[in-house]
Amino acid sequence: MKRHIALLLALSLVLLVACAGQSASSSQETETQELIEVGVSQTGAESDWRVASSESIKSVFTEENGYQLLFDIAKQKQENQIMAVRKFIQQQVDYIVLMPISETGWDSVLQEAQEAGIPVIIADRAVDVEDDSLYTAHVGSDFRLEGEHAVKWIEEHYGNEPVNIVHVQGTIGSTAQLGRSAALEDAAEEHESWTILTQLDGDFTQPKAYEALCDYFSAADSLPEIQVVYCENDSEAFGAIKALREYGYTVGGENGVSILSFDATRSGLMSCMAGDIALDVECNPDLGELIENIIQQLERGETPEKNSYVRESFFTSAQLTQTLIDKRSY
Ligand code: AHR
Repeated sequence: MKRHIALLLALSLVLLVACAGQSASSSQETETQELIEVGVSQTGAESDWRVASSESIKSVFTEENGYQLLFDIAKQKQENQIMAVRKFIQQQVDYIVLMPISETGWDSVLQEAQEAGIPVIIADRAVDVEDDSLYTAHVGSDFRLEGEHAVKWIEEHYGNEPVNIVHVQGTIGSTAQLGRSAALEDAAEEHESWTILTQLDGDFTQPKAYEALCDYFSAADSLPEIQVVYCENDSEAFGAIKALREYGYTVGGENGVSILSFDATRSGLMSCMAGDIALDVECNPDLGELIENIIQQLERGETPEKNSYVRESFFTSAQLTQTLIDKRSY
């Protein structure tokens, strides 16, 4: 909006100068071109994945590319994200990008953005709102599908053998947790031989996953037999591996505990190649260009797809080489 007012002023100025018989040079015209203001509310910096997703956005929304980026990190708190979005509304940015911590609780603030006429793009996780018109488009991962890849690995690897599973969940209420957890919970219901021993809150961080597992082990009368630890991201997997080893478990190999993880960051894949993580399902953090595509479509007056998902793969040690890992951007 501010951009439109500034453009009008710039245009009037150029006309005045022209009337006075002076011609504006093309370089002066370029200088008056306004940047597109984009306010981004990022969840936090809880994992390597999150840091990579922030980098991806910062590398695209640069002044050289025609953008003014306002970037806020909410330290994993929804109230901070709501405050950031309200500030972007006050600042009358051209677009708001929200990377929501949880699915619910966004209706009011999105309504405020809509009333201010600012398009909101949801990135990474999704929002669950009464009225879908409160956001313009969403681009992110299909977290349920990611979970299904991991579940399939358990099926293929253990067949009908008994499988005791420790489930370390991500930030409760986030789409990443809901999708990945639902895939495991549904499969466990379908397979009589699978038992989810416990569900622990790892909040997508290494220290929380480590503490949650240590607390679980220290509270147990005797250490449980575990075949699988299903961690909802690489950071949690590193915390889980540390705790398991400290409590005397073998990780990986034929008879060790199988660690399943998500993200497939460079360090996750290194751990996978070393045999500590049995399967690492990719979660693609390179959202910057995809968000920019949506903004460019809107700038041209086009209607972007309402929901789009990034393509993702999965890795076992058999597929990994150092060269492949080195090519990874995160
Ligand atoms: O929403 C994406 C998830 O959030 C990633 O799996 C995780 O690492 C991040 O914190």
